[in-house]
Amino acid sequence: MIDPFDRRISYLRVSVTDRCDLRCVYCMAEEMTFLPKAELLTLEELDRLCGAFVDLGVEKLRLTGGEPLVRRDVMRLFESLGRRLAPGGGLKELTLTTNGTRLAQHAEGLHAAGVRRINVSLDTLDPATFRALTRRGDIERVLDGIFAARAAGLAVKINTVALKGVNEGEIDRLLIWCGEHGFDLTLIETMPLGEVDGDRTDQYLPLSLVRARLREHWTLIESDHRTGGPARYVTVRETGQRLGFITPMTHNFCESCNRVRLTCTGTLYMCLGQEDAADLRRPLREGADDATLHAAIADAIARKPRGHDFVIDRRHNRPALSRHMSVTGG
Ligand code: GTP
Ligand code: 5AD
Ligand code: SF4
Repeated sequence: MIDPFDRRISYLRVSVTDRCDLRCVYCMAEEMTFLPKAELLTLEELDRLCGAFVDLGVEKLRLTGGEPLVRRDVMRLFESLGRRLAPGGGLKELTLTTNGTRLAQHAEGLHAAGVRRINVSLDTLDPATFRALTRRGDIERVLDGIFAARAAGLAVKINTVALKGVNEGEIDRLLIWCGEHGFDLTLIETMPLGEVDGDRTDQYLPLSLVRARLREHWTLIESDHRTGGPARYVTVRETGQRLGFITPMTHNFCESCNRVRLTCTGTLYMCLGQEDAADLRRPLREGADDATLHAAIADAIARKPRGHDFVIDRRHNRPALSRHMSVTGG
């Protein structure tokens, strides 16, 4: 699949549910209205759509949410998708991004299904900050989940959204902790998606600033390591681990975009930061054969926009898009 800007689309992110058991302040409002269950694709429908994308050249599938592990029976989906990882098949990587709260109970099952590398969101190591930031989370459960994942043989990358005045003073500690335990760390700039109650612009922290601060104490060696995601990496000489930067706001990476997003209702978004979408649920439920589904996907890819145009709107403090990240899966 090649888009109008000559980019090869090989990465599908699938939001399997818009629900989450946490309410991170930059992601959700305290009171969220979630989609009625009847709107959701079944696990079989999700599997069929993912299969169509793999037939068309997708090599990397990432399940996200909301929190993917809160979807009932989601392990059945991992198992069926994992069967597509067979040598010679088109799928090369099956993975997920999780908040970790239910990881302890699923780590071994994930590994058995063929998952080898996971991203876990963890913005702080401080229990009180964690509770405040997630509005309800217990950090111990997440840490147990992370260590269970490592014990099950999963490589863990920690995702940390850098937030001014919240965790900006903790980045060194996170780097040390990740170094001690053998985890890579990726820092992320907060993006203006969805109403979240508070003043989002207050929390925005440009990673150019964080990088400059880190350079005062750490040796950051440029690395050409790539995962197929948007992060650009350095290796931290003192810890030996990688540190990634995801900078949608200060350094746009859309030029090399290789991904599209499928929601749990079967809507395909061609860009995280644009409204244009294609409804794949309709053809699916109208009994489309594979060729018709493939054509619907190809039609959508042919409309993929060049990139997002997020800005931090300090004057109006409005999100660029009303849709929450949990709907499109980040
Ligand atoms: P790796 O496979 O480890 O590279 O993961 P990833 O970075 O592709 O996925 P992950 O789910 O860990 O996402 C990390 C952050 O990157 C999240 O905040 C996502 O919203 C953001 N992100 C991923 N893809 C895009 C993208 O295409 N555009 C923008 N603006 N952000 C993205
Ligand atoms: N901006 C940047 N990252 C976000 N995430 C959730 N909401 C936002 C936002 N508005 C992060 C989560 C998770 C990843 C999938 O996206 O913390 O690590
Ligand atoms: Fe849930 Fe992730 Fe959003 Fe936090 S950032 S509320 S863990 S979906």
